[in-house]
Amino acid sequence: MNWYDGFETIVRPDIPLRDLTWYRLGGPARWLCQPRDEDELVAVLNAIRAAGIPWHVLGGGANVIVRDEGFAGAVIRLCGLAFEQIEIDGVTVRAGAAVDLPKLVRATLKHGLVGLEVLAGIPGTVGGAVRMNAGGRHGELAQFVREVRMVDAAGRICARPAAEMNFAYRHAAVAGCVVTGVLLGLEPGDADEALRRYREIWNAKYATQPPLAARSSGCIFKNPPQRSAGRMLDEAGLKGTRIGGAVISEKHANFIVAGDDATAQDVLNLIQLAKDRVRQTAGIELEPEVEIW
Ligand code: EPU
Repeated sequence: MNWYDGFETIVRPDIPLRDLTWYRLGGPARWLCQPRDEDELVAVLNAIRAAGIPWHVLGGGANVIVRDEGFAGAVIRLCGLAFEQIEIDGVTVRAGAAVDLPKLVRATLKHGLVGLEVLAGIPGTVGGAVRMNAGGRHGELAQFVREVRMVDAAGRICARPAAEMNFAYRHAAVAGCVVTGVLLGLEPGDADEALRRYREIWNAKYATQPPLAARSSGCIFKNPPQRSAGRMLDEAGLKGTRIGGAVISEKHANFIVAGDDATAQDVLNLIQLAKDRVRQTAGIELEPEVEIW
């Protein structure tokens, strides 16, 4: 008997994760679970919990490093139309967790709603963006969130007001929960001006960062309060440092780019080396921003 008896259409064993992440590194998931709606999600989560299996949620894979040996648990990936809807009603926008974040940003701008242009150039899904409170120097998702829809740690479908999400820098209170959608409040405004700003942010960003096509997971470390991790890594002389097929970007020192021959371990070794070096040079303990599975 398998723990996933009855879920064979949505649970598959030993599935490679590399093509589901931006890094395209690492090994398989012991199980990949792809529920198609909230009821299937609740049911499969209950089965996972009853079997005592560790689990993670995978969104767009833009902020995850999967170890070379893979993950010996269940990876939940919301998959299907129920999680891919965008509904715009006046200034209120509902988006499912599997919606591509850049697609949501463009859809709202097209509707003459402004605000989300500050998220220009951030890859991933809406669910991942909620979980990480995605953002940058121009703003963050939390500014616009009214409510987060989720399956909570007790396995109940609920809508949690933004005030209860403890949003902070790259943080939201979602431990043990699976985000299934979000309700945003935007503003009507000058769509042309917002689009201009969107392009401007995009261009400014990719003038200082490796392109989205490069294999990376964005910034590796969080910025410590009032400090820039990228600047500290740069000042520690780390740009261009290479281990195996992974290299610290010459363009922005908080990015580690994977080459064709890179392994996840190369990236992890480089993370450790960079952390050690900044501890020695700046006396600061950098914390990873990426998730390591
Ligand atoms: N800097 C250097 N050398 C470098 C990198 C940066 O001297 O190699 C300096 C810059 O010149 C600047 C300062 O450090 O004076 C800050 O750099 P930047 O403007 O690039 O911003 P950041 O703090 O490094 C943050 C986010 C990015 C986001 C940008 C722009 C974090 C860890 N990073 O970077 O987010 O794109 O602002 O909004 O919060 C991500 O989360 O994956 C990410 C890339």
